[in-house]
Amino acid sequence: MGSIPIAVLISGRGSNLAAILDRIKRGELSARVELVVSNRAEAPGLRVAQEAGVRTFVATRREFGSREAQQRAILEELERVSPALVVLAGFDQVLVPFFVERFRGRIINVHPSLLPSFGGDMHGVERALDYGVKVTGCTVHFVDENVDSGPIILQAAVPVMEDDTVESLAARIREQEHHLLPLAIQLFAEGRLIVQGRRVRILDRVVSRS
Ligand code: GRF
Repeated sequence: MGSIPIAVLISGRGSNLAAILDRIKRGELSARVELVVSNRAEAPGLRVAQEAGVRTFVATRREFGSREAQQRAILEELERVSPALVVLAGFDQVLVPFFVERFRGRIINVHPSLLPSFGGDMHGVERALDYGVKVTGCTVHFVDENVDSGPIILQAAVPVMEDDTVESLAARIREQEHHLLPLAIQLFAEGRLIVQGRRVRILDRVVSRS
C-alpha cells in the first residue's frame, strides 16, 4: 500500500513525532512526514525532525503579530506539501477557524487525558492527578473549532499509582500516546475511520483477494 503525506505540528519535546518517524522507519506506518511545523523556535522536537531529514518550518506568534497571521503563514507552508493529514503532536496553540475549515476532517490531535475529562488546556495530567482519579490516559481525536472537543478516534487508559507525580504519570501516558497516535494515523491512511456524528467507526481491515 502507498503512503500518505502528513505534516506534524509541534511545540516542544517531539517524542510523539519521534514515535511516528520510528514507525515509518520500521515500515509499520504507511505515511511520510513531509513537513514539521513548530510555533516555538527552541522546540527540541525540531532537532528530531532535522535528524530524520524532515523539512521544518518555524512560525512564532511574535514574528507574525497575531495568531491569525501566524497560522495563515503555517497554512501557506502546508499547502506546498498538500498533506493528506495534519497531526497535532504537542502543538500548544488553538487552531483558528479558517485553519480547521481548510483541513476539515483531516486534522488529529493527541491529548493526555481521557476526554471529555480534563481537556481544554495543556494541564490534563496535573488536573487528573489533583482531582484524584484512579484511571486517566490519552485520547486521539479529530480537531474541530473547539478545544479538545472533536470526535474521538482512540483512547488508552493509564492507572494512577499511589506515589505518582505529574512527571511519572505524564511519562506513562506518553508511552501510550506513542502507540496510539501512529495507530490512528495508520487507520486514517487505510481509510478505515468513518465519522458519524460524534462517533468514529473503525472499519475492519479490508482483505484484498488475489
Ligand atoms: C503530549 O503529552 C500530548 O498529549 C500533549 O503534549 C505532549 C507532547 O509531547 N498534547 P511530545 O512533544 O510529543 O513529547
